[in-house]
Amino acid sequence: MKSAQAFWDKTAARYAKSPISDEETYRKKLKITQRYFKPDWSVLEFGCGTGSTALIHAPHVREIIATDISGKMLEIARSKARDAGIENVEFQQGTLDSLKFEPEHFDAVLGLNILHLLEDVEGAIARVGQLLKPGGIFVSSTGLIPMMKLHWRLLIPVMQTLGFAPYVARFDKVELIAMLTAAGFTIEHEWQPDRGSVFIVARAGEFHPRA
Ligand SMILES: C[S@@+](CC[C@H](N)C(=O)[O-])C[C@H]1O[C@@H](n2cnc3c(N)ncnc32)[C@H](O)[C@@H]1O
Repeated sequence: MKSAQAFWDKTAARYAKSPISDEETYRKKLKITQRYFKPDWSVLEFGCGTGSTALIHAPHVREIIATDISGKMLEIARSKARDAGIENVEFQQGTLDSLKFEPEHFDAVLGLNILHLLEDVEGAIARVGQLLKPGGIFVSSTGLIPMMKLHWRLLIPVMQTLGFAPYVARFDKVELIAMLTAAGFTIEHEWQPDRGSVFIVARAGEFHPRA
């Protein structure tokens, strides 16, 4: 976990400057997500990075707790929130496990470009299920490493050895959906902008299986 934090701290300044790779896809995901939001909702985002998405969503809900393992990412995020005068996003450093939230506290949880970076994806999904109110929604957008183009798959281990890429989990869409349904979620919306990624809105059951 420490090494993931070090990797993302080192990457934060460059990540903040890198442009969104596909604006149209990004905007479509924002729009789909906002269709679910209600003005009184309390939202958790984990792996929020430099906070751009949380700050865009902020006017549509009551509050967002945006969390990340990297203090450097959060420094940038807090400064963007100050510059934009946004006061209903609170940034906290930690992981889904280390941060202590009340069970069934959130109306929605967002995990964007993060599930494929976790060592225990099933555990994270179960934790999201615990944190959501019954019937709450989990919005995730994730890389599907086994489905990526061959040259990327070959490059990842080389980049990891050189310290230019983090740990990645290897699951495909079927495996991800199986993990979500095993944790009591129902898939409400599923969209593959390309073979190597998927965007899913999943609804928590009324009774959560406990992790
Ligand atoms: C690829 S970036 C995505 C950032 C943002 N969600 C986005 O879509 O632009 C992954 C982020 O997850 C954070 N991260 C990595 N492992 C994490 C963990 N176990 N818990 C929380 N955040 C983590 C990193 O610090 C980084 O900011």
